[in-house]
Amino acid sequence: MIPSSIKLDQYSIPIQGSTGALIVGKPGSGKSVLVSYLMLQLMSIGAFPLIFDTKRSDFFSLRYVFHDTFSIENSVTSTKSVEKGQICSTPGQVAKLLRQLTELMNQRYEHHQAHWGWDWINYKLRPIVVVFDEFSATLSEADKKTANEIINYLKQIIFKGRQMGGIYLILASQRLTADVLERNISSEFSTRIGMQNLDRVSLSLAFPGCDLNEIPVVENIPGHGLIYNDLFNTLIPQPFITPDMSHVNVPKVFKHLIVRNDVNNFTCEDYWPW
Ligand SMILES: Nc1ncnc2c1ncn2[C@@H]1O[C@H](COP(=O)(O)OP(=O)(O)OP(=O)(O)O)[C@@H](O)[C@H]1O
Ligand SMILES: [Mg+2]
Repeated sequence: MIPSSIKLDQYSIPIQGSTGALIVGKPGSGKSVLVSYLMLQLMSIGAFPLIFDTKRSDFFSLRYVFHDTFSIENSVTSTKSVEKGQICSTPGQVAKLLRQLTELMNQRYEHHQAHWGWDWINYKLRPIVVVFDEFSATLSEADKKTANEIINYLKQIIFKGRQMGGIYLILASQRLTADVLERNISSEFSTRIGMQNLDRVSLSLAFPGCDLNEIPVVENIPGHGLIYNDLFNTLIPQPFITPDMSHVNVPKVFKHLIVRNDVNNFTCEDYWPW
């Protein structure tokens, strides 16, 4: 059975029935470190990664892992999971991959209707972790048509994905404004995280329904933040600290998990696009 939650500091973050995590924080506050931690946690339970990094920073460098794995370990790994194109560096590529993901989600709904109330965990569908680092930067870089496409696919995934999609979205952004992410979308994220101290606009979008004066003050140290989850039974976000990842060789662990997960017991899906 796939675990239905992952650990972050002293908290247990549900992944079953969950859209994903929204992460906001100014530059250097520790967003990317947290994103890499969550990504590896999800990959360790078998999740298939899709990575969007149009700033071409930390996550973009993981493409070498795909290429290396592809050329060196071709005999061990089938070409399927190491195909290029799972790491996107332009808004156009992001839109294209999100379209494929939306199609996959729709196929999952069409093919899995036999059991009333079952979800992707019951059907043993392979979870997918979508890493979207610097979400607002990607949107501002995109032309209007592409930006709209990205938002529209994301909306479909956010509103529809939690039951059968098996899609866990990790969206990180420096600032949140209503232009970047409408309030009705941001509040769909079952987990919302603010790194260090945030401006009031970002706070009210990340933690709606909460009196801003009640929000705890966080130390201005990278990796320190506030976390809200639908199941915490309080609207007030709680302090947490991201595990220190400085001793973790992220590309190496990433590669290990890609190779290990290539052979898995998840349900075979002949419409799987990658
Ligand atoms: N949990 C942590 N423990 C210890 N140090 C951390 C932690 N998180 C982040 N840091 C330190 O802070 C630095 C910046 O973190 P990170 O790159 O994740 O920030 P960011 O919010 O993604 O910044 P940017 O907006 O520039 O991409 C890291 O290189 C690391 O040195
Ligand atoms: Mg970053």
